[in-house]
Amino acid sequence: MLNVTDPYLLVDEAYAKVRQSVSGQSDAWLFEQTMLTAPSRRAFLSALPIQDGWDILDLGTGFGGSAFDIACQRHCHVRGVDYDSEKLQVSRTIWSILNENDFFNGRGTISFEEGNAYDLPYPDHSFQFVLSRFLFQHLTRPEDALLQLNRVVSRDGYICLIDVDDQLSLTYPASKAYLELMEAYRQLQLRRGGDRLVGRKLAHYASAAGFQVVGTMIQTSAGYSVSEPNSLPTSMLMTHFHRERESLVREGLISEIEFDTYMLELEQSNVGPHFRTNSEVVVIAKKV
Ligand SMILES: C[S@@+](CC[C@H](N)C(=O)[O-])C[C@H]1O[C@@H](n2cnc3c(N)ncnc32)[C@H](O)[C@@H]1O
Repeated sequence: MLNVTDPYLLVDEAYAKVRQSVSGQSDAWLFEQTMLTAPSRRAFLSALPIQDGWDILDLGTGFGGSAFDIACQRHCHVRGVDYDSEKLQVSRTIWSILNENDFFNGRGTISFEEGNAYDLPYPDHSFQFVLSRFLFQHLTRPEDALLQLNRVVSRDGYICLIDVDDQLSLTYPASKAYLELMEAYRQLQLRRGGDRLVGRKLAHYASAAGFQVVGTMIQTSAGYSVSEPNSLPTSMLMTHFHRERESLVREGLISEIEFDTYMLELEQSNVGPHFRTNSEVVVIAKKV
């Protein structure tokens, strides 16, 4: 039995239980990120205008972090949707652990379902609220995904899009190695059809799809600290770059020698204190 009563602690404990089994997956870094960003994600989600009884879609749910958080906060039914069945399987395992411990009794409920942002398996007007966090940076056709959202959101319903814009984040002193690796990765994501500068475009896409943009904001965190080479954020970043090494080299975005040299430099340059800011763009829009 899980032995704590704070709902977030119950969720964290369930994530900790499956963590080891995810460590071999290619998206293990995303699992770590889901755990690491939980406090700020929860603070932000609790401020959203979601009402009890609503049907909520968490599109591109990944390992389900936002879906579990909303179920902790509101008596809603959340559908966590993703096209990656492997991640959904992990989310369902976490769901089962929580369910065995009676977590959903008196709280929101969740189902994890397979679906593609371009062709959502739901009738028109199914949801009062759609959240999509860090999905749009991966989409080749963001405009088409927003037309789908317009179809499945009910009249007077809301969407909330959260995503990156790399030019809103910085580090000082800037490590050349980090900048070079990030730029190569940004180019790779662009070639795959994604866009790491999508944050600034979200409001425009939502408006073009017929939504009325009712709120835009930047969520920023800043810090001045020494990050140890083996700290979680550093090792997450290193693992992430390592995972893309082959693709970056194959695409001619960086040579093997450059990659290995920069990774070594990155490991060493991270030891000193750095000022860092990280920003995410948030857009809230209403279907009128
Ligand atoms: C960076 S993760 C974000 C996960 C989660 N929303 C979060 O905040 O941690 C992006 C997710 O979008 C999913 N995804 C990418 N393209 C998709 C598509 N066309 N339809 C559905 N899911 C998609 C990926 O499988 C991945 O789980």
